[in-house]
Amino acid sequence: MASINANFLKLKAGYLFPEIGRRVGAFTEANPDLAGKIIRCGIGDVTEPLPEAVRKAMHEGIDEQGDRSTFKGYGPEQGYAFLREAIVENQFADLGITPDEVFISDGSKCDTGNILDIFGEGNRIAITDPVYPVYVDTNVMAGNTGEADDKGAYEGLVYLPCTAENGFVADLPTEKVDLIYLCFPNNPTGTVATKEQLKAWVDYAKANDAIILFDAAYEAFIQDPEIPHSIFEIEGAHECCIEFRSFSKNGGFTGVRCAYVVIPKTVTGSTPDGTRIPLHQLWSRRHSTKFNGASYPVQKGAAAVFSAEGKAQVSTLIEHYMGNAALLREACTKAGLTVFGGENAPYVWVQCPVGVGSWEMFDKMLGEAQVVITPGAGFGAAGEGYFRISAFNSRENVEEVCKRIATVLG
Ligand code: MLT
Repeated sequence: MASINANFLKLKAGYLFPEIGRRVGAFTEANPDLAGKIIRCGIGDVTEPLPEAVRKAMHEGIDEQGDRSTFKGYGPEQGYAFLREAIVENQFADLGITPDEVFISDGSKCDTGNILDIFGEGNRIAITDPVYPVYVDTNVMAGNTGEADDKGAYEGLVYLPCTAENGFVADLPTEKVDLIYLCFPNNPTGTVATKEQLKAWVDYAKANDAIILFDAAYEAFIQDPEIPHSIFEIEGAHECCIEFRSFSKNGGFTGVRCAYVVIPKTVTGSTPDGTRIPLHQLWSRRHSTKFNGASYPVQKGAAAVFSAEGKAQVSTLIEHYMGNAALLREACTKAGLTVFGGENAPYVWVQCPVGVGSWEMFDKMLGEAQVVITPGAGFGAAGEGYFRISAFNSRENVEEVCKRIATVLG
């Protein structure tokens, strides 16, 4: 008899977004006449077409694959040099990162989950709350937690509440932890951390011999020039940080898949006998064993994000989504709600009206406005009392959502 990984049985219900999909499906089945009115501002999935420069490069990549003289089979597992070099030149110039410290992949969701392969058992793991659910669920799957309590908090994880009081930037842990997940600009709250706040985290990590897993998937949405885009802008980060980046939200690659992990060779972890091992070495080994590289046309497309045309087209996309975020912020504020985020991120984090729970708010928005939002509680216990609106949509849809917010909540 094949035994299973029983850690999976500890997971609460379904993964958040499929669960939302299931509820929306049930609603449309019960109200078929309203199905066509539904506007989805739940999952942060891009809606605008791929930039022309990206499509052009992908077409070229496909054509190369159609010609024997330029055909490519398996590529380097870590990614093609042309893309790793373009990333360093455009995103990490002067930050002391080299192309061989960049690992190309097919997505940050996989990367942030898979990274646990290179860490041992018994680590104390700190997770901000509310949080992108992948960090929690992959730790549950890996056996790094006990059971969940009735609020969905797993035994063994150190939860760091992010609240309006701390500006949704968690306070440093009061105990020693070994792994820390940070995400800025933050999903789900849309808030950002200053250089000083990130410095405090890096100092904590160094003092406690901890590793920070820094998810910067939304860095392209930062508008404030004082806000760091990379953890490697912070002194000391090269000794204790791993950064995750993605082409999903800036280049619109959610359906195309390309992302990367940056691991400086100076970041180390420890064996049980205290020997220090570079994490870069372990991730490289893991990547070459379990991954065969992102597809060549996709990597060509990703590199085109950094061409002059690509940069201009990406910045138009960012402007579009940030324009949506501004409209959504305004509509919620006018409706008398307290609003956070949405100024340096594509997510608007809204406080539910007094006495309304976040799933109740989800039902109200779906039932009365036919707008799908994400209930804050789906991101963790500290998300209760809030909901997230994604700004990834067409302008037309966002304007319509704003009107419906005014009708239903105003
Ligand atoms: C979200 O809505 O939180 C994200 O789109 C999910 C993801 O990027 O996997």
